[in-house]
Amino acid sequence: MAAAGAAPAAHPLAVRVARLYLVLSGLHVALGGSVLPEAGGGHRPPKEEGALDAPQWEKSAGTVAYNVTRAVVAQFTPANATHRITHLALDADADDVYLGAVNRLYQLDGQSLLPVHQVVTGPRLDSPSCHASGCGDHVAKVPTDNYNKLLVVAPSVGADYIPRSVAANEPEASTFAFVGPERYNPWGGSEALYVGQTFTNLGDYRHDVPAISTRNLYDLDYAEFSFSKQSLLRIDVKLRDHFLVQYVYGFHESSYVYFLTVQKKSHLPGQEESGYVSRISRLCISDANYDSYTEITLECQGADGTNYNLVQDAKLVSAGSDLASSMGVGVGDPILVGVFAPSQGHTASPQASSAVCVYSVRDVEAKFNENIHMCFNGSMQYRSMEYISGPILDGKCPAAGAMGNILSFCEVGLKISGPAPMVGRAALRLPRTLVTGVQATAAAAHTVAFLGTSTGTIKKFGFAPSLLA
Ligand SMILES: *[C@@H]1O[C@H](CO)[C@@H](O)[C@H](O)[C@H]1NC(C)=O
Ligand SMILES: *[C@@H]1O[C@H](CO)[C@@H](O)[C@H](O)[C@H]1NC(C)=O
Ligand SMILES: *[C@@H]1O[C@H](CO)[C@@H](O)[C@H](O)[C@H]1NC(C)=O
Repeated sequence: MAAAGAAPAAHPLAVRVARLYLVLSGLHVALGGSVLPEAGGGHRPPKEEGALDAPQWEKSAGTVAYNVTRAVVAQFTPANATHRITHLALDADADDVYLGAVNRLYQLDGQSLLPVHQVVTGPRLDSPSCHASGCGDHVAKVPTDNYNKLLVVAPSVGADYIPRSVAANEPEASTFAFVGPERYNPWGGSEALYVGQTFTNLGDYRHDVPAISTRNLYDLDYAEFSFSKQSLLRIDVKLRDHFLVQYVYGFHESSYVYFLTVQKKSHLPGQEESGYVSRISRLCISDANYDSYTEITLECQGADGTNYNLVQDAKLVSAGSDLASSMGVGVGDPILVGVFAPSQGHTASPQASSAVCVYSVRDVEAKFNENIHMCFNGSMQYRSMEYISGPILDGKCPAAGAMGNILSFCEVGLKISGPAPMVGRAALRLPRTLVTGVQATAAAAHTVAFLGTSTGTIKKFGFAPSLLA
């Protein structure tokens, strides 16, 4: 579901200069850093005297503790430990923190962490045989926990609850979503929800939910769904159950949206020993039919030759001057910071070892263009996208020169899996640590990343120029 917020977040990173919000083992949200809550609690300016809508703290939602340790300024703990927190989103304009948890959604004041509002989302009587819009009496329903799968702060939507299947309907199956622009008309466009989710094994309606889709923010229907154009991507029905794609991160930059995934290297049955790779996929925001969907492999290599093949998390950050000068990009240019781990054998399970790789998004864009050129200039014959439904041209690249001079690939899109990978070199290696999450931010000259580990610790990492030289 989309948490209703007042305005789009101006700074969607969970880390700001002086404030760092952390979800600790799903049991607490902690606020660290140097900003202290004002004595006496709530930071929200009190409404005029006698106003009926003065803020009320929702005491039943949980408890707030202050000055827990020297580093933890404030900490919110849900009332019941079963309400495990799975997602955190910020509304920077309203200074609110939203939390998605098992059976609850919370809205907290950003400075005091006092709960402003809570929504009970479960347990509800449900069954995998029920459609999101409801279910007949003939289906046997049981109390079912609601696992929050995605939480974004977006312009206010009309309805409180929109009955649509958007996310994966299993607790462990991945879902990643973000708000980005859609430019389906030359004269304008709007903001849309981009959602990537793993195909699940559960229920009769699982085939309704595509791998990736663009949805409008009003009723979460597909942004485009006509006879000729559909803003979605499906894995081929024959492969869907076995070629499971894990959606790790996604973002918008210039004319494109990107998703980072972990998937099998080969979609062919019996090729399990070829293992898993991380990939980055790209789609033109002007493409209402996903014709321009392309994928390349995203590599992160250690100096010792280790292939950190499983991306665990990533964030987009604007380069501070330190990172900009060491990478040879402009200050403020978009940089993708990824944390990776090597796999255990041919599985998708990570080893307890990590690396941080950084990529200039301009370089990523150029690598996509290079791969696409190879399909159009005859150096590549096949587009290798058999695992995506609806192959056109028999999955072949056009004959060299057949399409004339191509001004923009977004206009002539052909789904392509590119053979040339985007290669990154590890800027940092943590040989005995599994990093599971990353936040990155730039404050003036300094670009820093905060790395969350599988054992619940945080490491701060500054991009000193010598590390990346
Ligand atoms: C937290 O500690 C600081 C510094 O010791 C103090 O000024 C502040 O009043 C404390 N806040 C609360 C809510 O106890
Ligand atoms: C916490 O929630 C669980 C599951 O809903 C319930 O069984 C339990 O009684 C609750 N505990 C408390 C202290 O309310
Ligand atoms: C095709 O394009 C690729 C990528 O730009 C380039 O490396 C290659 O040399 C080109 N091949 C031909 C035959 O022009």
